[in-house]
Amino acid sequence: MQTVFRGRHFINLEDFTKEEIDTMLEVSLELKRKFAMGEDTPYLNNKTGFLMFFEQSTRTRNSMEAGMAQLGGHAGYLDSSTMQVSHGETAKDTAIILSRFGHMIACRYCNWGRGNAYLNEMARWSAAPIMNLQCDLYHPFQGLADLMTIQEKLPDLRRKKISIIWAYAESHKKPISVPVTQVLLFPRYGMDVWLAHPKGWELPDWVIEQARANAEKHGGTLTVTNDEAAAYKDADIVIPKNWGNWVNDQTGATEVGASKVINDALIANKSWKCTEAKMATASKDVMYMHALPADRNNEVEDSVIDGPHSIVYDEAENRLHTAKAVMTLLVGGK
Ligand code: CP
Repeated sequence: MQTVFRGRHFINLEDFTKEEIDTMLEVSLELKRKFAMGEDTPYLNNKTGFLMFFEQSTRTRNSMEAGMAQLGGHAGYLDSSTMQVSHGETAKDTAIILSRFGHMIACRYCNWGRGNAYLNEMARWSAAPIMNLQCDLYHPFQGLADLMTIQEKLPDLRRKKISIIWAYAESHKKPISVPVTQVLLFPRYGMDVWLAHPKGWELPDWVIEQARANAEKHGGTLTVTNDEAAAYKDADIVIPKNWGNWVNDQTGATEVGASKVINDALIANKSWKCTEAKMATASKDVMYMHALPADRNNEVEDSVIDGPHSIVYDEAENRLHTAKAVMTLLVGGK
């Protein structure tokens, strides 16, 4: 077990060894057990965290806020539109000041080409850990919760077929950060990872190369295809989810909701919906996952997400336990 986490930034799970991720998962399970037992977990007594959001959130914000309170600390929610960043204050100045006030800064900034750079600039100057609440490239808290959920359901992940499948959605602009995180992480656990999408929704080449390297090192595989049916066939887990509107947006708009989500290229792929018929071609015990929010009846039929194969609420719950584990280790740990 790796135990040295205190003071480190949490921007990308690739920055942590598999042994370190295993420790995060073990601590998550321990905190989940204590939560179920009603035991106190005062690991962050008198600690203060800042949660800075450039975009909306339900799970991420509330798992961090509730988690910090349950650990004995306090988390302050910061809407970036009410901060001086909206007048151009820099990541450097914001990070230096907030890290003098408190013990961690967590930030969501999904704007394509800006989010990850912003987080890394804060990390360069902050005196406290910077945590990535989702950027244009990575969503490490989601990846950790996904992995915890899969491990709870399947005792042995090796050679299990897990299919990350692009799905049609109209609801809002979605970054590539969830599939990027998943396609990098799951091969590290020996899984047979399938990535399926229509032409035009490719993940960057460097992501595929890194995912293949991870698979080679850890005994997993990666298959990239435009064949949706092949990805569903005999899959043990399917994760049909939309991605790419941030990347494909050519308007240059920077505000959420300020630019068009729907265009002709998207509509041409409306058939990429998770249906009961497609689920019937997967393994008989197939599990349906989604980071949520789901665009119901575009990404997925209600009968699938509300049906017996869906584990989306267990997946969402684990956002709390994994958030608490990461904060405990990085802020209160050794
Ligand atoms: N999955 C996820 O990050 O949800 P929120 O956007 O609600 O935080």
